[in-house]
Amino acid sequence: MSESMAGLKRTHYCGEITEELLDREVVIMGWVQHRRDHGGLVFIDLRDRTGLVQTVFNPQEDPATHEKSHDVRAEYVLALVGRVRTRPDDMINPKLATGGVEVFIRELRVLNEARTPPFVVEDHADPTESLRLRHRYLDLRRPAVLKNFVLRHRVAKLTRDYFSDNGFLEVETPVLTKSTPEGARDYLVPSRVSRGSFFALPQSPQLFKQLLMMGGLDRYCQIVKCFRDEDLRADRQPEFTQVDLEMSFVTQEDIIEILEGYMSLVFKTTLGIGLERPFPRLTYDEAVSRYGTDRPDLRYGLEMVNLAEVFKDSKAQVFAEAIKSGGRVRAINAKGAGKFSRKQLDDLVALAISLGAKGLAWLRVTPEGFQGPLAKFLGEGEKVALTEAMGAKEGDVLFFGADTADMVAHVLGQIRTKLAEDLDLISPDRFALSWVTDFPMFEFDPQNKRWAATHHPFTAPRDEDLPLLESDPGKVKALAYDLVLNGSEIGGGSIRIHRPDVQNRVFAALGLTAGEIRDKFGFFLDALDYGTPPHGGCAFGLDRLVMILAGAASLREVIAFPKTQKAACPLTEAPGPASDHQLLELGIRLDKSQMD
Ligand code: AMO
Ligand code: AMP
Repeated sequence: MSESMAGLKRTHYCGEITEELLDREVVIMGWVQHRRDHGGLVFIDLRDRTGLVQTVFNPQEDPATHEKSHDVRAEYVLALVGRVRTRPDDMINPKLATGGVEVFIRELRVLNEARTPPFVVEDHADPTESLRLRHRYLDLRRPAVLKNFVLRHRVAKLTRDYFSDNGFLEVETPVLTKSTPEGARDYLVPSRVSRGSFFALPQSPQLFKQLLMMGGLDRYCQIVKCFRDEDLRADRQPEFTQVDLEMSFVTQEDIIEILEGYMSLVFKTTLGIGLERPFPRLTYDEAVSRYGTDRPDLRYGLEMVNLAEVFKDSKAQVFAEAIKSGGRVRAINAKGAGKFSRKQLDDLVALAISLGAKGLAWLRVTPEGFQGPLAKFLGEGEKVALTEAMGAKEGDVLFFGADTADMVAHVLGQIRTKLAEDLDLISPDRFALSWVTDFPMFEFDPQNKRWAATHHPFTAPRDEDLPLLESDPGKVKALAYDLVLNGSEIGGGSIRIHRPDVQNRVFAALGLTAGEIRDKFGFFLDALDYGTPPHGGCAFGLDRLVMILAGAASLREVIAFPKTQKAACPLTEAPGPASDHQLLELGIRLDKSQMD
């Protein structure tokens, strides 16, 4: 049975009931965390967004209210009126903000009852993720879950304030639109009015923000939903949020400066951490050759060292052959890995092989010299040169990759990450930001046998590389930059093409025919013709940024109603079937043989 809250007005949040309110009458509203019977006295802990407060029902004070308190269950919604008192000394709970007081209740109203929840609504309860997401509204009542959304709100608010203070205008761009390619599949929405035609949900507002620059808005920023139908991982959601921005009449340096200011504010405000500026910068080529990846985790060293000189005449076949065939030999010095067991070393070798390597040679540095599978093939001069190149000391283990440049980077990059875990080099409260710049303009897509844009097709090539667009696209570098935080790409952007002739040449390099260019981007090329300012910008993954700030392991922890690995919502059970009527209106007939 539920009662009305008519005539009652909440005076305080539960978390606000402290000694300052002693002897005051308060009206609080919230959910029942616990009810305990203690020989006559009944205690109810009431919870709301701000915390918990203990309330007391005394049979002497008000027998009817006391009687009523017996019927209350977990998660019932109550309105309580009572007086704040100090707790007896032996009942003070220093862990709670409200732990020095309790509220003696004179009136209890049950505003709503609740079914027995499928899990206890407490931080230390450990329900499965599918149960949590199915009942997210219960999950959100847990303080540890809620706190990520408070953090997310603060980041969103300071984002708006920062960009507004720096002259950016917030403009909303359409969600029902034409394809904006960012390398994923589009989500399509059928049009009822134009049967057989489809909107695409934006993979990003890329084209619109450029059109806003053409419209003279000069500086734009938006916190915006983007949609990408791609394979999901812990750091990818089909629907996610970008902090998206664009600026006119700027260079890469101007954009980086604004963004470093933004990141510094984010870290100062949310974690109280002052970031050192400028952030470290690596070119793409440096990042890949030193860390094996374009998003290096700079919280630890474990750099890859080039050993081409050391092993150019080696008797160790594995090394000599890699060098002779134009490949690379690189190694990581894992300081302190001398304590690794043989099994740990074998596991690392197995990991390398599972990643496509032919093996993972290693050498322990012992008082007797190098020990390991290839030690016997190394000449004295080689050993000296290797020791010097690697800074090898007793207790270290060297891990080698010998293969094509790509394979060495891929394998040693992952071995580096694993070594950092095994050696316990990652402290959870360290944050390492860096820029990776000078990305290649194109990547070869072996499946479709053509070039694809590394960032997106609107990114400007370096001026000096323009002549290579047709003759040697693989060599063209782009004015593109990524911001990397702890090994995760949290933002990416570029200077854009503002000349129609260059844009056409880039589309052509991507293998688009004149007809396809017209169909897909005609409107955009037209716009480029009417006086486009030089411009550039960037987008941050807001979810990824908040996930890292929160120390969370998955984006799902910072998205209120996230999707699962199968791109489905466990709470609403979307996506679901459309009715025959809806399909008929859209002119769509399903091919049942294609349904699972
Ligand atoms: P990009 O594709 O690099 O650039 O995306 C920008 C940032 O968005 C985040 N992100 C994602 N986060 C969660 N789930 C996903 N599926 C997902 N995909 C991307 C990443 C990434 O760094 N229009 C360009 C930006 C520009 O050039 O201004 C763009 O979208 O953190
Ligand atoms: P093998 O000559 O194949 O017996 O390998 C000798 C050692 O070199 C073993 O420890 C292998 O794991 C390692 N090894 C083999 N191929 C490679 C490679 N391409 N890169 C690094 N190590 C390798």
